[in-house]
Amino acid sequence: MKRPIAAIVGTGRGVPEGVMTNYDFAAIGIETSHDWIFERSGIVERRIARNGETTCSMAAEASHKAMERADVHPGQLDMIILSTATPDRLLPSTAVDLQAELGAGRAAAFDIGAACSGWLYGMTVAEGMITSGVAETILVVGSEKMSAIVDWKDRATCVLFGDGSGAAIVQRAKTGKGILSTFLRSDGKLADLLYRPAGGATNQFSQQVLDERTQFVRMAGREVFKHAVRSMSEAADRALDAARLTAEDIDLLIPHQANVRIIEATAKHSNISMDKVYVNVDRFGNTSSASIPIAIDEALERGRIKEGSTVLLVAFGAGFTWASMIIRF
Ligand code: UT7
Repeated sequence: MKRPIAAIVGTGRGVPEGVMTNYDFAAIGIETSHDWIFERSGIVERRIARNGETTCSMAAEASHKAMERADVHPGQLDMIILSTATPDRLLPSTAVDLQAELGAGRAAAFDIGAACSGWLYGMTVAEGMITSGVAETILVVGSEKMSAIVDWKDRATCVLFGDGSGAAIVQRAKTGKGILSTFLRSDGKLADLLYRPAGGATNQFSQQVLDERTQFVRMAGREVFKHAVRSMSEAADRALDAARLTAEDIDLLIPHQANVRIIEATAKHSNISMDKVYVNVDRFGNTSSASIPIAIDEALERGRIKEGSTVLLVAFGAGFTWASMIIRF
């Protein structure tokens, strides 16, 4: 018997209206320049949550749009999987807040923590749940309020990140299209290259933590850069091998949007020309696990993904974690 296939049947995004350009850092006393940020990362502007916007509220906006496009109502959701590095509260999960907000009374809801790779981790869990028959309709959301966890006094990190959310509804494919292959990997030995030293159950909040600002993200940028290129390249190869496809079969590569130089290096490794690569890091910065679902939603809206398109998704993030997936739409 042929293995069932899981497919995305609707997508949505919820990004804050507030835009912060590279030129706006001067006004908050950050010694940087548009030229430095743009040349090193490709970022021009990012969205910043304001006026009470939360990880949950952005997720709700993305989810409502995804459900509308999929013609699914909240009562149909069997499961809500929310990837985030910025939960609104540490207990309970942001997924249950989202469940309450949507009125998805039947759903099992939980968060996934795999940093920037989190949405692909969530999609892989959803694929397993759908193809094994545990669930029929799953909402997979990536939602991140990175502005809450970056150190606004550290110019090496605060210029890179942005806020936003992207969502997809996953169901069993009716047409044979859908998720063709997945690949997940982690290496916890490298955790301290990108992490938040304090604020968890160990190193709890204290005056010392606040004084040393160790509750915020710390990143060894150069090291992370090298690992990102290597791991995303590996992930791209592995997803292609698993689907028995080559780069020529790929209509669009959607990599995690952290840095346009990482994106270009990954595309070059995979022999995929930049006209087949979706890039929006210039407008959103690094939105962690929200970056890929936001990009998919935009690519569908802009006709970059069409019926029958074969799309390669590749992510890398803190942990380190890395992941890939090939989807035929
Ligand atoms: O989501 C996945 C995780 N994140 C990533 O994938 C990010 C990976 N890393 C990167 O994208 C790059 O390493 C960065 C964009 C973060 C930095 O680029 P870089 O070419 O590796 O620069 P660098 O960190 O080596 O810094 C070069 C110089 C330093 O000055 P000195 O020591 O050479 O005098 C920094 O102090 O640039 C300085 N610098 C800045 N200057 C102006 C650092 N941040 C800034 C800034 N504005 N915002």
